[in-house]
Amino acid sequence: MARRRQIYEGKAKILYEGPEPGTIIQYFKDDATAFNAQKKGTISGKGVLNNRISEHIFTLLGQIGVPTHFIRRLNMREQLVRQVEIVPIEVVVRNVAAGSLSKKLGIEEGTQLPRTLIEYCYKDDALGDPLVSEEHIACFGWASQDEMHDIADMAIRINDFMCGLFAGIGIRLIDFKLEFGRLWDGDYSRVILADEISPDGCRLWDMATGEKLDKDRFRRDLGGEVEAYQEVARRLGLMPEGVDTTVLDLDTHRKKRSKD
Ligand code: TMP
Repeated sequence: MARRRQIYEGKAKILYEGPEPGTIIQYFKDDATAFNAQKKGTISGKGVLNNRISEHIFTLLGQIGVPTHFIRRLNMREQLVRQVEIVPIEVVVRNVAAGSLSKKLGIEEGTQLPRTLIEYCYKDDALGDPLVSEEHIACFGWASQDEMHDIADMAIRINDFMCGLFAGIGIRLIDFKLEFGRLWDGDYSRVILADEISPDGCRLWDMATGEKLDKDRFRRDLGGEVEAYQEVARRLGLMPEGVDTTVLDLDTHRKKRSKD
């Protein structure tokens, strides 16, 4: 098979040219970073789990009418998506205070917010993805007013849906990050949900115990990262009983088999 052309390598994913024009292949790596890549590591099997979890959530969001870039999962680590022009804004949706919000404003982690809070960060690694207001977005033309209206609307719908989805499996959705992209059709474009939704970009706390089931395990050196991601996948019904969940990526699988 002809070697695929790599378009971009990010911190947790690699993008390759897709089989048809206007398509892209997203490859999910095991690499994990935190604090703007100041902390680096690998979580063995994470890419496989995130591919599966993101596929599941994007499929469900598509079914409730949220437009997304997702087309189909291709294999354990790859999915086919529509090519979009990424809007350079990270959209953070918060239901409960945690992380940078708690730190910045001195609000105890775990405090329920009186209403859903949407924050915007300008996507620029060199600047550390700074928090910006809608005024900055309009002033610098990062997105139009119409696009921001659609983005905020979708973010709220996604949050409502995901709060219910996770509550149904005993998980409290604390906060999460979304990215959107422009899908062009001639001179016109519309914004659709892009990137991924996985425990890498969400805070997910077990409702009964408060245990963290997300990338904070890595950020805060809590250990048990892959087990936490597996638990999220298992509760979402993505890990059939009886499957050897320790064997999640092909490389590990091959190495393990050759050792046995
Ligand atoms: P924060 O509390 O560090 O601002 O993070 C809020 C949420 O956004 C949390 O669920 C993690 C997610 N997030 C990302 O996915 N990528 C990022 O670069 C940052 C800063 C946060």
